[in-house]
Amino acid sequence: MAARKKPVVVIMRKLPDAIETRMRELFDARLNLDDLPMSQSDLVKAVGEADVIVPTVTDRIDAAVIAQAGPDLKLIANFGNGVNNIDVAAAAGKGIVVTNTPNVLTEDTADMTMALILAVPRRLTEGAGILLKDEGKWAGWSPTWMLGRRIWGKRLGIVGMGRIGTAVARRAKAFGLSIHYHNRHRVAPALEDDLEATYWESLDQMLARMDIISINCPSTPATFHLLSARRLALMQPTAYIVNTARGEIIDEDALAQLIQEGKLAGAALDVFEKEPAVNPRLLKLASQGKVVLLPHMGSATIEGRTDMGEKVIINIRAFFDGHRPPDRVLPNKV
Ligand code: 8YV
Repeated sequence: MAARKKPVVVIMRKLPDAIETRMRELFDARLNLDDLPMSQSDLVKAVGEADVIVPTVTDRIDAAVIAQAGPDLKLIANFGNGVNNIDVAAAAGKGIVVTNTPNVLTEDTADMTMALILAVPRRLTEGAGILLKDEGKWAGWSPTWMLGRRIWGKRLGIVGMGRIGTAVARRAKAFGLSIHYHNRHRVAPALEDDLEATYWESLDQMLARMDIISINCPSTPATFHLLSARRLALMQPTAYIVNTARGEIIDEDALAQLIQEGKLAGAALDVFEKEPAVNPRLLKLASQGKVVLLPHMGSATIEGRTDMGEKVIINIRAFFDGHRPPDRVLPNKV
């Protein structure tokens, strides 16, 4: 019996070695060993020849790219939870299935969110930077030097109480923060009790009362600039904002303006509106210690990225074995 032809799988960025090796065993895997982001013409070439593409957040699979898909392209197995880089409706229109990698990056992203919640009020990067300056020449401790703001006892408002929001809430509760949240739907009473969480139907009202806001909702057309200039202006001048979700959810220019004017205390951001470009106004505020910026590292652990790769493999295998892939993303769910 002739061996079944292996599906052509174009993997758009370098993945952990163990994942790439397994993909080469299972598929006709086209790797990107140089890890250079794909250009528009690379993307068009890939969708023209592949049975499956494995994009990441840096690969924009929009309607124009999908329109160029060849007859063999059946599956877009995203390496990532968020699918804002893919036009899921356009894919569905061409009968192309989309999958993602939920669950496995929840805890890692929540850890990084907690780190960012601490970072600005406790002046973490500023302090670490001081010891690196002047070859470690430090005048020594003083009672009123490098004072930040206390974390425990403050109110944390979580925007988006899904998997990651809930994991952030658990950590924050252990740090002594009181948990508040805004979500499209109220969570189960048992979870609310467990977290001692307060639900706010009105995002505006929650924003006006919190000490720290954490953004943990997906990026969809409905959440674009959810934190608009008007909403950001509702926050207290002593409040901080943390974003490990997607840059587009916050109006970045308005955020920079409010921090610059002293109308907001600061921000800690892992994601940016025009990634990989970083707003120069935010960079300036970072140099003044008012903002902490990370280069999209929320899920960046070797274990997390390997688990994400495993999910991609399972989705591809299930699909070609004739099953519904476990992490299918439906257009009406985006
Ligand atoms: C990933 C993420 O690094 O999975 C997501 O939605 O934001 C990140 O943690 C990235 O998206 C991988 O494509």
